[in-house]
Amino acid sequence: MRLIVADDYDGMSKLAADIVIAAVQERPASSILVATGNTPMGLYDLLATRQASGECDFSGVRAVQLDEYLGIGPEDPRSLFGWMRRSFVVPLAIPDAQVMRLRSDAADPDAACQEFAEAIRETGGIDIAILGLGPNGHLGFNEPPSAADAHTRVITLTPESAASSASYWGAGEDVPQQAMTVGMDILLEARLTIVVISGEHKRHILQQTLEGPVSSDLPASWLRTAENVVFIADRAAAGELALAEDATTQAG
Ligand code: PGA
Repeated sequence: MRLIVADDYDGMSKLAADIVIAAVQERPASSILVATGNTPMGLYDLLATRQASGECDFSGVRAVQLDEYLGIGPEDPRSLFGWMRRSFVVPLAIPDAQVMRLRSDAADPDAACQEFAEAIRETGGIDIAILGLGPNGHLGFNEPPSAADAHTRVITLTPESAASSASYWGAGEDVPQQAMTVGMDILLEARLTIVVISGEHKRHILQQTLEGPVSSDLPASWLRTAENVVFIADRAAAGELALAEDATTQAG
């Protein structure tokens, strides 16, 4: 596991873009797990800018959805699939046939989860997982508690996540209380994982993720047991951890 600390949000996004671009240059048909949320948006903007300048080409990648609210169709304004399309798939000209959508509007959501996990495995697993860090330590919607072997499944949002979701859709919006998420089992097998973390409000949870106990109560802490994980934080999020700039920390 590696922690890289950037001066600010833009620096964090640039460092993350450098790593993602290098990985896609090496493997143009990479399967990329694509987080939504505010934090990776600067990274996605940079990828699109750098593709437009000819530096990279994401048209061969497979974009895999990380999570979705239950019962929300792709056209719903709250759909995380729609957010992934607008921020990642369309700007990077990824053909629809190379996009894997979590069918949270399926008649049998549990079966849809199993099929999705199976489809990820059949296509060779995840090459690059791009993740944010939830205010409660969730990854995707792997809410606490989530074990390392938690499968792709339907979950109930914690109050923190419901509040965080409300911040995206505006007060008064009807925030779904349930969601689907790719499981910890698949996340922890990704060949490369980039976690972007920004802002002072993430400082405590980042410190706990990196230095607290590895436990289901803080799902992101399981990343310390996985291969090839890079946390990229801005200084506001890293806080005291910033002292260990560019530090390489052994998985614990
Ligand atoms: P954020 O969300 O990037 O909007 O902070 C992160 C998350 O909840 O996973």
